[in-house]
Amino acid sequence: MSLAGSMTSPAQLEGAASPIIKLSAVSKWYGTRDRPVHALAETNLDIAAGELVVLLGPSGCGKTTLLRMIGGLLDPTQGRIDISDKELWKNGERQGEAVANLGMVFQDANLFPWLTIEENVALPLKLRGVPKAERQARARDLMDLVKITGFERRWPKELSGGMRQRAAIARALSYGPDILLMDEPFGALDAMTRDSMNVELQRIWQETGKTIIVVTHSISEAVFLADRIVLLSPRPGRIDSIHHVTFPRPRALDVQTSLEFQSLVKTLRHRLAEVE
Ligand SMILES: Nc1ncnc2c1ncn2[C@@H]1O[C@H](COP(=O)(O)OP(=O)(O)OP(=O)(O)O)[C@@H](O)[C@H]1O
Ligand SMILES: [Mg+2]
Repeated sequence: MSLAGSMTSPAQLEGAASPIIKLSAVSKWYGTRDRPVHALAETNLDIAAGELVVLLGPSGCGKTTLLRMIGGLLDPTQGRIDISDKELWKNGERQGEAVANLGMVFQDANLFPWLTIEENVALPLKLRGVPKAERQARARDLMDLVKITGFERRWPKELSGGMRQRAAIARALSYGPDILLMDEPFGALDAMTRDSMNVELQRIWQETGKTIIVVTHSISEAVFLADRIVLLSPRPGRIDSIHHVTFPRPRALDVQTSLEFQSLVKTLRHRLAEVE
């Protein structure tokens, strides 16, 4: 080992810890033998515990495919996914232990209309057999975290879109996963609500220390949220480039007016135009 190589900074030590999510040569084909669709090319990616990573790329490039494979909803055609050092898929079967560490949030909140907000948030705990008093207490703590206290007995239709997404985040966190996977979570919201939800997501991330992956088409959303942006090229999706975002936290929406912010947005926009 060279002299330089033997000197390890604290940052390198941190980087040496095993990643909470590890993708090794993961790829995905859909369709039949006659009409195969290559959705995702061989992908390698390590995500450290506590990181906020954004997957950014054009429509149809395989973002949802990648997120669903990490979330245990879709088996990879090839390759291996490890969650907290546990293999997620073995012979096309997902492994329960790894899945227990993952929570998911989609573009639509997907709340059950016949359950109250509190019942929706607590549903995963009910399905796991957690006693009523305990799941109510947990649901209330989480509703407090996402700031929808007071809406426990309301029905989903009585909440705004942003509040429904808050409830969906609380539900995804209910059983205590370390990882939150979010597929265009604010894509259906109006621009102002979306901005404020991104501020809220940053706060929730800072308060909980979760590892979060967010999928988006929005360059400015990616730059506002991310520690690291993984830019995907069109189908078959592959990692085009990785961009570290170093604006101090907590970031206020005003950061978007800074020259550095706009310059990174521009770089990414050009990069996307080139790969598209
Ligand atoms: N079940 C399926 N069967 C066949 N092809 C599929 C299936 N699901 C997705 N695809 C194809 O795989 C590719 C990647 O799809 P995916 O939904 O992952 O893209 P995406 O990046 O999430 O797109 P968007 O930004 O529009 O949500 C697309 O070309 C899509 O048409
Ligand atoms: Mg998608």
